[in-house]
Amino acid sequence: MTKRIVVAIDGPGGAGKSTLARRVAEKLGCVYIDTGAMYRAVALWAARLNIDLADMPRLEQLAEAAEIRFEAGSSRVLLNGEDVTEAVRAPEMSQAASRISALRGVRRALVEKQRAMGAQSSVVMEGRDIGTVVFPDATVKIYLDADPRVRAERRVLEMRLKGVAADAGEVASELRDRDARDTGRADSPLRQAPDAVYLDSTPLSPEEVERAILKIVRDRTSNGKEISQ
Ligand code: DC
Repeated sequence: MTKRIVVAIDGPGGAGKSTLARRVAEKLGCVYIDTGAMYRAVALWAARLNIDLADMPRLEQLAEAAEIRFEAGSSRVLLNGEDVTEAVRAPEMSQAASRISALRGVRRALVEKQRAMGAQSSVVMEGRDIGTVVFPDATVKIYLDADPRVRAERRVLEMRLKGVAADAGEVASELRDRDARDTGRADSPLRQAPDAVYLDSTPLSPEEVERAILKIVRDRTSNGKEISQ
């Protein structure tokens, strides 16, 4: 018998969640869901409509109305039918997403969408609260962490590879601000779930982290045989 699985990967920015979640999803044949991109998409829509980031009722309405889809087999994110994959990665969207993600109404609307996605197919979902709030019964929970200095270096490299100018000091300070906001907010703060496996990616290559995660998934799912797409 096959069953749907949820692999929850949580952790701070720059720990390598996106790269790893994408790779693991591909290997397992699951849908990859980047929940940070959903908060970023709502922040982008709000910026385009000039909505103040303190305007809770309007932001909640936007989060409810946003039609967010992930293209199967790719990591492209569509907002109301438009491909916004690159637009949501702009540095100002990182800060804006972190700010609106502290709003209860925005979280409620997006968590509902995330649960619906996980009910449809086997998923590898990454974010901040997947193992604690969105899917407390996830098949596998990973908390992926890394040294803050290394996380900042990875972010700088990622930006430079995309041709975006990046100042190392500024990136480190923005990551610190985001860490403080994401772990300090009242609603669904970033925390390791008690039953999550802690993985420190600081000394590991992406291949090593991928192997470690796949092993944990296979140990928990009769060697991967029970996974249905
Ligand atoms: O993972 P990311 O950097 O793309 O996420 C952007 C912001 O969205 C992050 O600072 C915190 C927020 N977020 C969240 O609160 N809950 C999630 N499940 C995912 C992201």
